[in-house]
Amino acid sequence: MKSNTRKTLDEFIIERQDDFQYSTGELSRLLNSILLAARVVSYKVRKAGLIDIIGAVGTTNVQGEDQQKLDLYAHNIFVETLVNREIVCGIASEENDNFITIQGLDQSHNNKYVVLMDPLDGSSNIDVNVSVGTIFSVYHRISPVGTPVTMEDFLQPGVNQAAAGYILYGTSTMIVYTTGFGVNGFTLNSAIGSFYLSHPDMKCPEDGNVYSVNEGNYVHFPRGIKNYIKYCQEEKENRPYTSRYIGSLVSDCHRNLIRGGVYLYPSTLKTPNGKLRLLYECNPMAFITEQAGGRASDGNRRILELTPTELHQRTPFYCGSKNMIDKIEEFIANEEK
Ligand code: AHG
Ligand code: MN
Ligand code: MN
Repeated sequence: MKSNTRKTLDEFIIERQDDFQYSTGELSRLLNSILLAARVVSYKVRKAGLIDIIGAVGTTNVQGEDQQKLDLYAHNIFVETLVNREIVCGIASEENDNFITIQGLDQSHNNKYVVLMDPLDGSSNIDVNVSVGTIFSVYHRISPVGTPVTMEDFLQPGVNQAAAGYILYGTSTMIVYTTGFGVNGFTLNSAIGSFYLSHPDMKCPEDGNVYSVNEGNYVHFPRGIKNYIKYCQEEKENRPYTSRYIGSLVSDCHRNLIRGGVYLYPSTLKTPNGKLRLLYECNPMAFITEQAGGRASDGNRRILELTPTELHQRTPFYCGSKNMIDKIEEFIANEEK
């Protein structure tokens, strides 16, 4: 199909508006604001190397990680784009210690949604021209409309998500998102700034032959995960599996979603809760993966059912093809017996 005859994302959002639980058009407008910011960030990411936007800023975020110039740039663009659009009452971001309260133009607190985001995922890859992404998660607030947003609006279990998605600034720029009615992927035609439906109704294969893990941490992994990695490498049936690790969650999960495979970020001796953040990395990726027929687990429990207690909380994370996650849980359970 010629690209200009494909459905655009704007057309798709309007067509699907009735799917939304609170169908007032606000969630559609929210998604459109995210797309606008994504286009701006994509444009900037494509210029990395040409203008002075690569490298560290010299500051660290609340988690003690070095902040890159593009981390902060992306954070600011998404926040600025969402503020004053009368949709979002609060934003939580990897790059901000606390959540940001957003008031309407008349200083009211009537907006209904909160957004949690990882503005730039895989940012240590920027300087070496490897794919990065943005991850976002959207909830309907639970505090009463008209009052300032509260921490409990952000600390909802992932099953409550109204929408989640990621933008991948890869060989092309793509957005993949769900509102709980399957997963669809759109590719940006950067010459004209439109996203076109390129991956309708995405399905994660039930099985795969790729495992993605930072094997440099192997000696610190729990026994069950060490055993699973050895199982992946065994010469038996359809194994050994292929090892692929980009070090950019969005890119690794995107590949696994399309081709089948599994992403692992286990607990280690140094980091008992793993590295990835539940609210703006794991929950949105888990929602998308489940909606595509895959699974996401912390090793014992479904990621989407965990009750968050902190904004920047971490969790071990296993995500991808359903049968592969079942297998990982089996290996973990065997060691815990
Ligand atoms: P971020 O750039 O937002 O801090 O996230 C980095 C994450 C994730 O994208 C990636 O899969 C993982 O960290 C890589 O961690 P290791 O370098 O420890 O493997
Ligand atoms: Mn990240
Ligand atoms: Mn990040």
